[in-house]
Amino acid sequence: MTNLVILTGSGISAESGVPTFRADDGLWLGHRVEDVATPEAFARDPALVQDFYNRRRRQLAEAHPNAAHRALADLAARWPGDFLLVTQNVDDLHDRAHAETPPAPGFELLHMHGELLKAHCTATGRVTDCPGDLGPDEVSPHHPRGRLRPHIVWFGEMPHHLDRIERALAACDLFVSIGTSGVVWPAAGFVELANHAGARTVELNLEPSLGSRLFDETHHGPATEVVPGFVERLLA
Ligand code: APR
Repeated sequence: MTNLVILTGSGISAESGVPTFRADDGLWLGHRVEDVATPEAFARDPALVQDFYNRRRRQLAEAHPNAAHRALADLAARWPGDFLLVTQNVDDLHDRAHAETPPAPGFELLHMHGELLKAHCTATGRVTDCPGDLGPDEVSPHHPRGRLRPHIVWFGEMPHHLDRIERALAACDLFVSIGTSGVVWPAAGFVELANHAGARTVELNLEPSLGSRLFDETHHGPATEVVPGFVERLLA
């Protein structure tokens, strides 16, 4: 049975109107990443950080899964073996696509950088749904001294589910990387773990990523064109 691991980055959500991170101006919605995506930034200016994520959460309401998200949902519904979908994205576009097309039992979706529509308590770590805005001093319902912060992995924090991801990469036969620049670790190193496991490795991206030469196969173009075609061939 072919074990499949697919990694996605912001490029798969770009055509849904969710901005990528390393556009030309190097800014992220007008901010330097260090000013809004680090624990130090949150300690220094919680209002700025909460507002930044509040704006991104509101933006998400206008975005919808695109043909690439839906193609992966079709794949998850029909894939006979294990299929782990690891996303660096904090949007819920994969979640919504798989809710529309329920996956087969061997499928799992993991958000390694957290989720925009969740918050966690700074005292207990308890995670809760967060559909709306968070204030700069949002008291946590779980602990009198706790505050609610975005359930996002900030720079300097450990990504989630790494042991589970590394085990899946060690056992995978096919690794596909979609819409990521290969700049941020540890996700940028997943292709080498897959190569080491003897898997076939494929990159689907708008243009060659930093690690393109590490892949057996690359297809370049917009995700809404390249991903459905790839899935169709895979399922044929
Ligand atoms: N279709 C396919 N790929 C695309 C598209 C598209 N329509 N548009 C852009 N891309 C590609 C770009 O060429 C680039 O290689 O998607 C990639 C986006 O790269 P980044 O902006 O660096 O985003 P990503 O790789 O997801 O960043 C990883 O960095 O800031 C952190 O936590 C953040 O999860 C993020 C991580």
